Amino acid sequence: MNFLGGRKIVLGVTGGVAAYKAAELTRLLGKTGADVHVVLSEGGARFVSAVTFQALSGNIVWSDLWDARMPNNMAHIDLTRGADMILVAPATADFMARVVHGLADDLLTTLCLAREVPLLLAPAMNRQMWENPSTRRNAGQLAADGVVLLGPEAGEQACGEVGPGRMLEPDALLEDVIAFLQPKRLAGRRVVLTAGPTFEAIDPVRGITNSSSGKMGYALARACAHAGADVVLVSGPVTLQAPRGVRRIQVQSALEMRTAVFDEIGAADVFIGVAAVADYRPAAAAEHKIKKSGGEMHLALTPNPDILADVAALDDPPFCVGFAAESRNLDDYAESKRRAKKLPLLVGNLVQDGLGGEDNQVILFDDKGSHPLGRAPKMELAIQIVAHIAAMLKSDRISG
Ligand code: CTP
Repeated sequence: MNFLGGRKIVLGVTGGVAAYKAAELTRLLGKTGADVHVVLSEGGARFVSAVTFQALSGNIVWSDLWDARMPNNMAHIDLTRGADMILVAPATADFMARVVHGLADDLLTTLCLAREVPLLLAPAMNRQMWENPSTRRNAGQLAADGVVLLGPEAGEQACGEVGPGRMLEPDALLEDVIAFLQPKRLAGRRVVLTAGPTFEAIDPVRGITNSSSGKMGYALARACAHAGADVVLVSGPVTLQAPRGVRRIQVQSALEMRTAVFDEIGAADVFIGVAAVADYRPAAAAEHKIKKSGGEMHLALTPNPDILADVAALDDPPFCVGFAAESRNLDDYAESKRRAKKLPLLVGNLVQDGLGGEDNQVILFDDKGSHPLGRAPKMELAIQIVAHIAAMLKSDRISG
């Protein structure tokens, strides 16, 4: 998705081994729609050359405070005009210290001092440098000054040591940049979601499941995290990675899903049931593999609890959102499902429109009626659904 379309990002690269990852980051930011302007420090240029960044960003790379190419000779100011952020990746310990003290003796530090845009730093250094009391103090001061620190994470380092100080991987930085730029519609809210299919065991090697890919639920969890919510995703078996910043609890059966949801629901403001929960499970799973008998086989099934209806029936339920996948009569079935389960909001779709695919077409049903959203990628729909939930929560608060 073109998340960063129309965004201008000034990417500072300082002198650390992780500078090689900044090349990939430049590519990823550009691929996501951003216009990337790289400012390479003298140290950064020792690790990766300006040519690489120019080729990957399609823009001139800046290094010199005295560069005469800017018509008014004000590169230290003009580069951040109209920008959405300065992102420095990698940010060395030395660079952090210089920003803390407002030093401005090269182009990048001058840009940081003369900016009116957010400053995000992705520190990268040896673990002793990161743990040194002066770096700790500097990190604290930067946060107090409103500078956003992304990472670092712990892991294997270029010097051969293991510990905190590794720069986040480019895909994680990209995700943090995307999230940073999204409106924080669910700030301070806690959201619990279910996603994916459930798997109801018949015997140790077989089970009943369905073709839900989990994509819609995972996209919604990601959109909620982007919107600033604290997100718990209770997921049936899928092959997707947990979205960054989302706490995932993996389960198999509907009963396990229900237990996990009820363990988490106490503090939730919003519950979104996206999972395609199996309505029935084998009455008793066989302890050993069932052998073929040659004749007919009958499997006794027993109903599973309805997780969403049970959450909505709590004394003080969170704001509950349901999904209805129907193969016909969408309007009737969806609205009666919403009323039966006592949900303020239900997202309906025709299975032939969305199951397993990248796109979907959904209609939102609430007390005010039905609101069709156009056909779109699941992530775009997720963002629109989150906006709708946030607006309903807000009007709830105003009227309540
Ligand atoms: N759901 C649930 N627990 C169940 C069944 C459904 O939490 N045991 C939730 C789903 O996550 C979804 C909504 O209920 O948000 C509707 O699911 P769906 O399977 O479409 O509806 P059902 O209520 O099962 O009705 P039917 O299968 O008859 O259409």
